[in-house]
Amino acid sequence: MKSTILQALARRRPERLPVWFMRQAGRSLPEYRELRAGTSMLDSCLNPEMAAEITMQPVRRHDVDAAIFFSDIMIPLRLAGVGVEIQPGVGPVLDDPIRTRDDVAKLPAPDFADASMITRAIELIRAELPDHKALLGFAGAPFTLAAYMVEGRPSKDHLRARALMHSDPLVWDQLMTWAATVSNLFLKVQVAAGADAVQLFDSWAGSVSRETYAKHVLPYSKLTLEGVTGPRIHFGTNTAPFLDLMAQVGVDAIGVDYRTPLDEAAKMVPGVTLQGNIDPAMLFAGQAALHEHALDVVRRGTSAPAHIVNLGHGVPKDTDPGVLTELVAFIHSLTPGQLDAEHEGDN
Ligand code: CP3
Repeated sequence: MKSTILQALARRRPERLPVWFMRQAGRSLPEYRELRAGTSMLDSCLNPEMAAEITMQPVRRHDVDAAIFFSDIMIPLRLAGVGVEIQPGVGPVLDDPIRTRDDVAKLPAPDFADASMITRAIELIRAELPDHKALLGFAGAPFTLAAYMVEGRPSKDHLRARALMHSDPLVWDQLMTWAATVSNLFLKVQVAAGADAVQLFDSWAGSVSRETYAKHVLPYSKLTLEGVTGPRIHFGTNTAPFLDLMAQVGVDAIGVDYRTPLDEAAKMVPGVTLQGNIDPAMLFAGQAALHEHALDVVRRGTSAPAHIVNLGHGVPKDTDPGVLTELVAFIHSLTPGQLDAEHEGDN
């Protein structure tokens, strides 16, 4: 059987709804916490056996329709030689924030000395992953990377990055071009090694206006996907004001956060497959409420050419993995008749 995710990315409705979860690998799984103990986040990504094993854990446990390569959006920075760590409970932290012309000039060349551990990890996953499941590669979009690079650590409103694009557009252009180049390389390595499709994460793009997105963000996201073969998914949060612009980056599917109903999203990006948008908070609301919410999501999803079920953002770390396994079984059990029901009558 051909991968239902790839069918949906080709704008065809598969017989069974495809489902996977952003951050399906990771802290919600006890087998992950056990394996990772004593190894830093980025070091575990760079260990091919470990990265392959962690990638497979949620596939075995939940029967999701895709494996997402276990890595991080900061890995291309590390591979290019930038000093970066993921601090537990904090997130990405850089040795030196990039804020001035000098800082950008001192960045290493946007190139990888050695990416063989990425290739090897993907080959190991490919050897184990059943043919009907898709292997998704990914990278961070330049804005989300710049949001960390300029601040040097996670920030709430990405004020320094948003100020830089206006105060020094030339430095912004150089920084965004650098970030686009390393993410582009990272995507190409993954596709060459066997990833079936890729997702571009622009998690923090929603902190800019539509106008700013068009001028200072979109061109660099386009650059990130240049020459990347295979289907593309593009995801961000709080991006309802410019979902249509995000689609212009050149994608097969748009990931929708939990704030915009899929029937509304479908009107903004006609003809594009949608992915999402179960509210992660509903994972904690009990089975009846979760099923009702999931059913509403998949019914609204019929407004799009095809729908890949996912959460509206990543799996929260204290999620009960049993709830995810059960949710996958529920989504897989849905029949076309249950999806066709008019959602208007259900509120
Ligand atoms: O299962 C998967 O989705 C694949 C692996 C994956 C990770 N990060 C592993 C990870 C993917 C696709 C990412 C992408 C990523 N990394 C994004 C975009 C997606 C999103 O969530 O919006 C971003 C913004 C990052 C940067 C990053 N890395 C953050 C903000 C954090 C969390 C910090 C924290 O402790 O809360 C990380 C660390 C990280 N990346 C973990 C995992 C499993 C947690 C590490 C741990 O076990 O402590």
